[in-house]
Amino acid sequence: MLGFPAVIQTCLPRRAVGRTRLQVSELGLGAASLGNLYRPMSDAEAHETLDAAFNEGIGYVDCAPYYGFGLCEQRVGEGLKGREGIVVSTKVGRLLEPAPGVVDDSERFGFRSALPFTPVFDYSYDGVMKSWESSLQRLGVARIDMLYVHDIGRMTHGYRHPERLQQLIHGGGLRALAKLRAEGQIDAVGIGVNEVQVCLELMEEADLDVILLAGRYTLLEQKALDVLFPECARRGTSVVIGGPYNSGILATGTRSDVVPRFNYEVAATDIVFRVRRLERVCREFNVPLPAAALQFPLAHPQVASVIPGLGGSEQVAQTMTYYRTRIPAEFWQELRSQNLIHEAAPLPAAQT
Ligand SMILES: NC(=O)c1ccc[n+]([C@@H]2O[C@H](COP(=O)([O-])OP(=O)(O)OC[C@H]3O[C@@H](n4cnc5c(N)ncnc54)[C@H](OP(=O)(O)O)[C@@H]3O)[C@@H](O)[C@H]2O)c1
Repeated sequence: MLGFPAVIQTCLPRRAVGRTRLQVSELGLGAASLGNLYRPMSDAEAHETLDAAFNEGIGYVDCAPYYGFGLCEQRVGEGLKGREGIVVSTKVGRLLEPAPGVVDDSERFGFRSALPFTPVFDYSYDGVMKSWESSLQRLGVARIDMLYVHDIGRMTHGYRHPERLQQLIHGGGLRALAKLRAEGQIDAVGIGVNEVQVCLELMEEADLDVILLAGRYTLLEQKALDVLFPECARRGTSVVIGGPYNSGILATGTRSDVVPRFNYEVAATDIVFRVRRLERVCREFNVPLPAAALQFPLAHPQVASVIPGLGGSEQVAQTMTYYRTRIPAEFWQELRSQNLIHEAAPLPAAQT
């Protein structure tokens, strides 16, 4: 590495990924923001965000080709230079095709990236292999630890879901992933989705080490407890929690100076009311809402890591404070007694 000794990562507590040898830090970095999700970020800001996160001991970063159409992976690759021991996941299911008409960073699919590529779904054998190889090159690494099948499911594909699922199952996408894992090119295979149903469908077809479940096990929603998490426990599949703030509202709360976002849209009134009830309990116990949102999913034994989207080194610093905030057991009991969390949800242990 050009004469520089690699920085050996000091790491937050790690948890195992399924039955693999891989361990991820229980707090990870969701890097969609580094692909300029909703707002542009400079290369320097992206680099500072990664440096801040790695220096704090965050040892796991999640990317995707889709995030800024290659931008996120390029930036993460730069940030990894000279560091060892950071676990990296990226995704398959979309290829990036040249888009010569792109001339600036006008918003496309939510991203403000000027890279002249456009995403095209492809869950076939060749599509998965090509996506993996392209990710290796954008990241500038010889090996990627985990690959998730990105956004398979009805929420993304609507009436075309059966066709896409067919392509993944019978068109060789799953076979390609199993081959990469069997050859030792990757350690873990998973899916990265915002919905529960497709997780159950795919667990019947594939040996998944991990599910990246975004927005569906948070302080606002815990239906995953009913069937999905017990099934994961039975099969030895870990869960990584994406979108722990449900894309914004559990970080910002219902303050009047921001438009609260829930699931990537303006939050509906019933969600705002529910967050206000959470905020009342937070005020009573002097607990920041985002601290509770971050720590809640980590109490579930199936959860390997929680990966908030972090846009800037200040947000990294704030996140570390939320992660370390001491929350009394009575706070969680109060949420439960007010039916604000599922009665079966494991509650975080009080820190001493
Ligand atoms: N299908 C999939 O595989 C999938 C889907 C969704 C997410 N994910 C993964 O999960 C990660 C996180 O998801 P997400 O970014 O969608 O949602 P999220 O973590 O629930 O929310 C991120 C938003 O919260 C706000 N935020 C974060 N920290 C904050 C702080 N300290 N103070 C104030 N606001 C703060 C930021 O808003 P501002 O931008 O306004 O600062 C940010 O955009 C993604 O990066 C990705 O890695 C995967």
